[in-house]
Amino acid sequence: EKGGHPTFMDKEIAEQPQALADTLRGHFDGTRIVLDEQRLGEDDLRTVDKVFVVACGSAFHSGLVAKYAIEHWTRLPVEMELASEFRYRDPVLDRDTLVVAISQSGETADTLEAVRHARRQRARVLAVCNTNGSQIPRESDAVLYTHAGPEIGVASTKAFLAQIAANLMVGLSLAGALGTKYPDEIGREFAELEKMPQAVADTLALMEPVRQLGRELADARAVLFLGRHVGFPVALEGALKLKELAYMHAEGFAAGELKHGPIALIEDGLPVVVVMPSPRAQPLLHSKLLSNIREIQARGARTIVIAEAGDDAVAPFADTLIELPVVPALLQPLITTVPLQILAAEIARSRGYDIDKPRNLAKSVTVE
Ligand code: M6R
Repeated sequence: EKGGHPTFMDKEIAEQPQALADTLRGHFDGTRIVLDEQRLGEDDLRTVDKVFVVACGSAFHSGLVAKYAIEHWTRLPVEMELASEFRYRDPVLDRDTLVVAISQSGETADTLEAVRHARRQRARVLAVCNTNGSQIPRESDAVLYTHAGPEIGVASTKAFLAQIAANLMVGLSLAGALGTKYPDEIGREFAELEKMPQAVADTLALMEPVRQLGRELADARAVLFLGRHVGFPVALEGALKLKELAYMHAEGFAAGELKHGPIALIEDGLPVVVVMPSPRAQPLLHSKLLSNIREIQARGARTIVIAEAGDDAVAPFADTLIELPVVPALLQPLITTVPLQILAAEIARSRGYDIDKPRNLAKSVTVE
């Protein structure tokens, strides 16, 4: 049942190219993005003037990634909200608000209650979900299913990548309805997405040095993760994986925040994983990250750098350099997440932990 893999998590990491391909398949009809269930008309989407995205844990991080793309493509304000916080404040919602609820299981109580709250305020709700017939899609106005297949490992991997792809399709669907993108532009973005299963497969083939690194870091006390722009949610996701699986203190930061506090944590030998933006596509952010790396290396950090292949500028400052395929900037999280999943799994395994069933956690959290 694990298909020759030692754990479900290993199997699910390996299945990521397939999960992405299956999630994308059949969703572009040459003109627009096709949702799976739509109890809303195109007209309902046309009047949307604000988007809230609600989710928990990894699903929340997938939404944070997509926020950058959805705002860029639609010019709508997109607010990312932890589902557990959403209804306990007084969010401004009305008929023209679209609430996107992301959930692998479709049964997460915090997310379900956020959906119910939104509907009581007459907002429209679109679910991104991996489980057919689960409660969140049943209570939503429209659904886009991720086709990652059943995810058994408690730590989300393939569902997370599939969620990013689906969230991006939500953005393209909205851009189509609002007219901020023409069908040919949507087609071009979709074609880039369709190249990602191969890019993830190529990334998976490069992971042996990451496994080795995981074994080396088994005794580390803490690990920090830094990123910017779409690399910031990847840093958060990398830290969450490490907490869940290796029970290690791990934190993700937006690298620009470093000098506002976290740099005080840097000490000799502390492993810091840095998700580099592309020097080609995001030169300004790249140069900012470069100076961050120099700062932390000067203070003794052990720098582990996830970078685009051919990023020669960063190489001298990387104690360990993991080079990944070149992909469009907004799609980078689909590949930069992979080494962080493998790093967390390998550290946890080296410490002797059960990576499919981490302590204290349940696969779906059905109580608030
Ligand atoms: O089923 P959901 O996507 O609603 O679950 C949300 C979170 O509980 C989930 O992503 C959790 O954070 C994972 N264990 C992360 O690996």
